[in-house]
Amino acid sequence: MINIILFGPPGSGKGTQAAKLVDRYQLVHISTGDLFRYEIGNKTPLGLEAKSYIDKGELVPDSVTIGMLNNKVEAHPEAKGFIFDGFPRTIPQAQALDTLLEEKDSPVAALLALQVDDAEIVERIKLRGKSSGRPDDNDEATIRNRIFVYKNETTPVFDYYNEQHKSHSINGVGGVEDIFERLCELIDAATK
Ligand code: C5P
Ligand code: MG
Repeated sequence: MINIILFGPPGSGKGTQAAKLVDRYQLVHISTGDLFRYEIGNKTPLGLEAKSYIDKGELVPDSVTIGMLNNKVEAHPEAKGFIFDGFPRTIPQAQALDTLLEEKDSPVAALLALQVDDAEIVERIKLRGKSSGRPDDNDEATIRNRIFVYKNETTPVFDYYNEQHKSHSINGVGGVEDIFERLCELIDAATK
């Protein structure tokens, strides 16, 4: 199995790149943000709970997110590997992921962090908001809180995997194809 964490602030292009990586490497894409939005759309109890955090740009509690992620991984016993997009967002989530993958004898191969500066992120998310219909993309205070939460709660995950010599930073500004090639080079090096 090849397990890749696609990392980076909101609006850094994780979803766009994940879709392309899935095609090239035949992996299963798990976006915890998309899973929450699916639950919200279906007005499930999980969705209603998640919405109260997401609309403010806060993180959903670890226990909820980890449970949902575990279920999704277990639903794909045939997978050749996973692209984790938007997960893990905290150290407890990273520890839970490592425990889950240890049971499968298939650890995280690499964490790839897309680097995009704050001003560009805010512009990208506002633009996306026009078509995404996401409340959290359409309010500047919420967007700024998501960036704040990323810096405070999520960037320690980069250091966590850096201690395992698995973290890599990639310039996330430029053409989609150029960024994709940068990611593929790192994945090929990490998995050969
Ligand atoms: O990954 P994405 O940016 O789509 O996530 C949207 C929102 O979902 C986040 O701002 C956060 O509120 C919530 N989320 C979370 N924990 C995760 C992934 C997403 O709380 N691991
Ligand atoms: Mg996304």
